[in-house]
Amino acid sequence: MQIAFHLNGTPVRLDAPPTRTLLDWLREDRGLCGTKEGCNEGDCGACTVMVTDEGGARALNACILFLPQLDGKSVRTVEGISSPEGALHPVQEAMIAHHGSQCGFCTPGFVVSMAVGHACGRTDHDDVLAGNLCRCTGYAPIIRAAEAAEAAPVPAWMQDTVPERTADPFRPSSVAELARVYAAHPDATLVAGATDVGLWVTKELRSIRPIFLNGLRDMQQIEMGETIRIGAGVTISALRDAMRDVHPSFAELLRRYASVQIRNAATIGGNIANGSPIGDGPPALIALGAALHLRRGDAVRQIPLEDFFLEYRRQDRLAGEFVEAVTIPAAAPTLRCYKISKRFDQDISAACGCFNLTIEGSIITDARIAFGGMAGIPKRATAVETALIGQPWSLATVTSALPAFATDYQPMTDMRASAEYRLEAARNLLVRYFHDLSGEPVSVLEVAP
Ligand SMILES: Cc1cc2nc3c(=O)[nH]c(=O)nc-3n(C[C@H](O)[C@H](O)[C@H](O)COP(=O)(O)OP(=O)(O)OC[C@H]3O[C@@H](n4cnc5c(N)ncnc54)[C@H](O)[C@@H]3O)c2cc1C
Ligand code: FES
Ligand code: FES
Repeated sequence: MQIAFHLNGTPVRLDAPPTRTLLDWLREDRGLCGTKEGCNEGDCGACTVMVTDEGGARALNACILFLPQLDGKSVRTVEGISSPEGALHPVQEAMIAHHGSQCGFCTPGFVVSMAVGHACGRTDHDDVLAGNLCRCTGYAPIIRAAEAAEAAPVPAWMQDTVPERTADPFRPSSVAELARVYAAHPDATLVAGATDVGLWVTKELRSIRPIFLNGLRDMQQIEMGETIRIGAGVTISALRDAMRDVHPSFAELLRRYASVQIRNAATIGGNIANGSPIGDGPPALIALGAALHLRRGDAVRQIPLEDFFLEYRRQDRLAGEFVEAVTIPAAAPTLRCYKISKRFDQDISAACGCFNLTIEGSIITDARIAFGGMAGIPKRATAVETALIGQPWSLATVTSALPAFATDYQPMTDMRASAEYRLEAARNLLVRYFHDLSGEPVSVLEVAP
């Protein structure tokens, strides 16, 4: 596949094998070994690179980034963070001054994430660096280094331009083109952010014939109104930004979604289409009453999102059909989303519960409750909803509805949690929801000394 991009300021043209990762290419073909391989699955950040396009600079994991996804973009590796003459970037100076490196294996990844954060004026360093793991330094010196570099100007050598994109039918540039090529090749694999598909290649060594979706600008739009239309190609980062004012609890859930690098790549369409029972997007969207927009050739249809998930890893999607968008209401003041995982950042949910009740006067008149991690699919708690509707909104009502969780869910035991834990946690989340709507602090982040 012909591609063109800039690497550390130098134009590159390449006939790229469609599933060769940027990390392998950098290290094996270009000898740029500053970008490290730690986990090779998006978890550690040792392979972080800076990728710039019309949308600005982003940190991405090179280990699950296929070369064709770079077409028309600019890439900066750790070798391109200092100037061509060898002058250090302010974050590199600060890492030295604040003793931010011990063995140094993680350091190139940290430096790139810090340089991207610096270029974007970010000061939420805990969030910016949550996708970079360090086993020896401890994070305090690294955070101190990031803080120390904040005020320094962005060096002139960090300015990047992007080349013209090259054309390829398997890298469509509009939804209409995608509809045509996928209808003609229904056995192809759609690749959006590759945060799932990347692992099929790097870990499962699967061979796939990809159709790349990241050039579809018309699938990356969010249209705000009474109903919000979210294109399937919208990244989790962009969705989080858009949700901050309208559905703040959903936005906060998305902060807990993996790490910056993953959120910058992963799309909401991929999160829905992969049908994972532990994806974080679907429970929130189902609680919001989302509609899913599917397209196959010129045929479009719309279904309630909850009907898309049929059984474990089986969805209501025809060959050659793809997710085009999802729509949600703009108003849902009682929506609350709670993610239960062993770590705060960069962890998959053991359970994810989302609640959206309508309370008129003091009576519950409607209820939408959906969970991930409790069944083979993201699933509504219809028995709990039935137990709540028509009742007064009180702790007594909530307590009397708790047994219904066992009707809705028979969760499994796995490495993340036992079945008993999941059921108990789900019940507790409804109690938490009651206290949350009553204005009491319910998050560990709200506990003040
Ligand atoms: C380190 C790491 C941490 C993660 N943490 C989380 C987490 O905290 N929460 C969470 O929910 N997920 C998490 N994930 C999983 C992953 O990020 C999500 O499932 C993601 O949203 C997938 O989106 P993508 O764009 O990367 O999809 P891809 O990997 O490109 O595709 C995923 C699947 O969807 C299909 N697909 C993609 N787009 C479309 C479309 N428009 N129409 C039809 N089919 C399509 C693909 O063919 C494929 O089957 C994590 C993954 C990694 C690697
Ligand atoms: S090598 Fe660990 S995130 Fe890429
Ligand atoms: S300095 Fe050794 S892993 Fe971070």
